[in-house]
Amino acid sequence: AGTLGAAAAQSGRYYGAAVAAGHLNDATYVATWNREFNSVTAENEMKWDATEPSRGSFSFGSADRIVANARSNNMKIRGHTLVWHAQTPGWVQNLQGNDLRNAMINHINGVMGHYRGQILAWDVVNEAFADGGAVGTLRSSIFQQRLGNGFIEEAFRAARAADPAAKLCYNDYNIDDANANKTRGVYNMVRDFKSRGVPIDCVGLQSHFGQVPGNYQQNIQQFAALGVDVQITELDIGGSGTGQADSYRRVTQACMAVPRCTGITVWGITDKYSWRSGDTPLLFDGNFNKKPAYTAVLNAL
Ligand code: XIL
Repeated sequence: AGTLGAAAAQSGRYYGAAVAAGHLNDATYVATWNREFNSVTAENEMKWDATEPSRGSFSFGSADRIVANARSNNMKIRGHTLVWHAQTPGWVQNLQGNDLRNAMINHINGVMGHYRGQILAWDVVNEAFADGGAVGTLRSSIFQQRLGNGFIEEAFRAARAADPAAKLCYNDYNIDDANANKTRGVYNMVRDFKSRGVPIDCVGLQSHFGQVPGNYQQNIQQFAALGVDVQITELDIGGSGTGQADSYRRVTQACMAVPRCTGITVWGITDKYSWRSGDTPLLFDGNFNKKPAYTAVLNAL
């Protein structure tokens, strides 16, 4: 196959990119997206501050523009994200107790309801685990502080009801090393959710890399063995040239080796627009030329 999406589709997988509505007026950007990718994640447009800037008043204009192009090109769509400590509007941060709980559930219902039946997988909760501390420590956030650790389970239960067709993912960074404390915490949560019947279908490994962990494939395998899919959701890898290409090849091969690793999303199309300013972590350079990393990925799919 001659494109990332077509190559991934040969094994039933998708190859997606994060796309920003602000670049949809760049014809080369849109042409590259449509040619190479068969899945999309809105880079910011489905986050809480974008979709519910004031309480109960939803706005989907920018997200809908991304979704419209994706649908007319038969792409998969990943929903990102419903409950996250960042990019949450100020009005949410002022809520307490049940008021916050009701707002969270109403937000899940409103956003998932708008896109019901159109989303492959939702990142229901994003980045809820702490980077340090004992295994299982959650990040201190308004949700954790005011609703308790059970907010994650509450969000997943609400999400299942809001769109039963969507796969429900827990998404995080620094859960790529199979043995890291943060990974163990997420692993234990997924195992607990599965054993108690709390709805969860997938784990998203953001995979914003400098170095790819040596046990990355083993990590994907250990999550899959719990009975969930694994998706690589926000891949980008610093560097350039053959070193970067080798890292991208290893990530691709790790996913391909695990049947339940169902797709890969890179966090952007071109280095020109990467959120990692000053770095060149993507598959296309600033002029939309294919980099060595692109060829490495295409050949590994
Ligand atoms: C980033 C976007 O790429 C930026 O444009 C924005 O300013 C901040 O958020 N983890 C996530 C993504 O889950 O939503 C983040 O996206 C990158 C880190």
